[in-house]
Amino acid sequence: MAAIYQYCSLFITLTLMLTIIGKPALVMGTFQPSPWTLAHATFYGDETASATMGGACGYGNLFVNGYGTDTAALSSTLFNNGYACGTCYQIKCVQSSACNTNVPYTTVTATNICPPNRSQASDNGGWCNPPRSHFDMSKPAFMKIAQWKAGIVPVMYRGVPCVRSEGFRFSFQGNGYWLLVYVMNVGGGGDISNTWVKGSRTGWISMSHNWGASYQAFATLSGQTLSFKITSYTTKETIIAWNVAPSNWGAGLTYSTHVNFH
Ligand SMILES: *[C@@H]1O[C@H](CO)[C@@H](O)[C@H](O)[C@H]1NC(C)=O
Repeated sequence: MAAIYQYCSLFITLTLMLTIIGKPALVMGTFQPSPWTLAHATFYGDETASATMGGACGYGNLFVNGYGTDTAALSSTLFNNGYACGTCYQIKCVQSSACNTNVPYTTVTATNICPPNRSQASDNGGWCNPPRSHFDMSKPAFMKIAQWKAGIVPVMYRGVPCVRSEGFRFSFQGNGYWLLVYVMNVGGGGDISNTWVKGSRTGWISMSHNWGASYQAFATLSGQTLSFKITSYTTKETIIAWNVAPSNWGAGLTYSTHVNFH
């Protein structure tokens, strides 16, 4: 009897240990890489990547806001009306003599849209026309995976978790009755499906998607400390950033937080 009891308790202990050890792999909301998929890549701008600043996601100066030159403009099919802003991709050059074989892949963040051009055929210049999946990369990012003289190369890409140091950043526009925020430096899936703002004298107010990575609320929020609640588009995880901006918040300012998706 004692032996059976010992086996039983050993079994229970092992089961408990496995349950505990197994937990981290089952954390809800963690972004998982998508399968590798075939697409094409071109580049825009020059080696300074200055043409990539002020893109359709609203991140403004990409050096100031942490995205640097490892960025791409997405065809409208991938851009998803701006909901893909901030998503991260590994991109590798394939099936071309122009591929840099010493570099397995490079990682970029979506910061812009590559608009369709209906006057160009989708297989001859209209690379970003729907339904094509296409990456118009910054020239420095493109040059990491291929010789730029190729112009366009086939690539394999997959969505990967965005690795960001520090927390979400909120860049404010608008006024005391209309708040427009650009949500930046989003980790994990990198994207956002819903944003709420809460003034110190209001409940949670759902913000509408404006354009790119910007969200707006038509509400009287002047003179109030502001908190934000963000839901990830891909993982559906929700995080609250409390007391992001002080009551004397102002348009044109950017506020940092210590919370982020992973
Ligand atoms: C679209 O393609 C046409 C034909 O090549 C070109 O003249 C025009 O500048 C392009 N439009 C844009 C917005 O790039």
